[in-house]
Amino acid sequence: MPSISLNLSGLKARNEGADVRHDAPALPRSPVQARQLSKRFGANTILDNLDLEIRAGEFVALLGRSGSGKTTLLRALAGLDRISSGTLDVPQARAAVFQEPRLMPWKRAWRNVTLGLKIDQPRERARAALEEVGLAHRENAWPATLSGGEAQRVALARALVREPQLLLLDEPFAALDALTRIRMHQLILSLWRQHRPSVLLVTHDVDEAVLLADRVLVLERGRIAADIAITQQRPRSADAPQFQKVRAQLLQLLGVELDTPAVAPAPETPAPIVAPFNFSNFSI
Ligand SMILES: Nc1ncnc2c1ncn2[C@@H]1O[C@H](COP(=O)(O)OP(=O)(O)O)[C@@H](O)[C@H]1O
Ligand SMILES: [Mg+2]
Repeated sequence: MPSISLNLSGLKARNEGADVRHDAPALPRSPVQARQLSKRFGANTILDNLDLEIRAGEFVALLGRSGSGKTTLLRALAGLDRISSGTLDVPQARAAVFQEPRLMPWKRAWRNVTLGLKIDQPRERARAALEEVGLAHRENAWPATLSGGEAQRVALARALVREPQLLLLDEPFAALDALTRIRMHQLILSLWRQHRPSVLLVTHDVDEAVLLADRVLVLERGRIAADIAITQQRPRSADAPQFQKVRAQLLQLLGVELDTPAVAPAPETPAPIVAPFNFSNFSI
């Protein structure tokens, strides 16, 4: 695929009361910068003066309890919703994948990939993107004939074909079975390595976050409450002590009580495997 051109012009100025910058910076800077970003729905403040920075090519995971505002933040970064106040710099070239693939059922797979794009050779571009997600052979398939994992890969191809500088993923693996999810983890890592967009992956799965990301953020009360760098080399093993330490730290931040006791209790007296012989059990 052609390389992604650097374009730091931000969201259009349809953000009410928000200062959204369009100027190209003189020095290299993080392509994603939110400063004092707030989002309110009526009287409810969901994002409250939030600061966030994602560097070029960085893979960031965002954790938070249900209803903490993860999707709200992702939609603001995607330009799908207005912010209420603050500043937001994001690349123009960005794409989002959601939990459900959101394919048009009346369009074949390849047409879904290029939906809404005005590009030369759309079919070839769609095919190349589908090939990257291992679905070239399904380019003519109707969405209804795709498995959950395949449909999600088409959604990923639709994001790729836009050559995003920022890839936004909102729990994209949550509806998939465990094996498909593992394959998708590998796929997303290999695509990220190849194209190097900045990634924001929203997930409620702590293991997924620690397995994939360079940095894990926790959203709480409208702000980034924790920012943890994951230094473990990839591929990562969930069995590594380093992994488990970060995992425990994040679970604690999320208020999840671990039921594994710090000190293992003394084993109970084991029950006899063979019952003692008792003549009274026998009748002759
Ligand atoms: N369009 C909307 N109108 C009103 N409230 C909303 C809207 N979208 C989200 N919310 C509220 O914002 C809060 C955060 O939602 P969301 O960002 O979807 O959380 P998360 O993705 O972390 O589970 C929730 O209380 C939700 O009800
Ligand atoms: Mg959500």
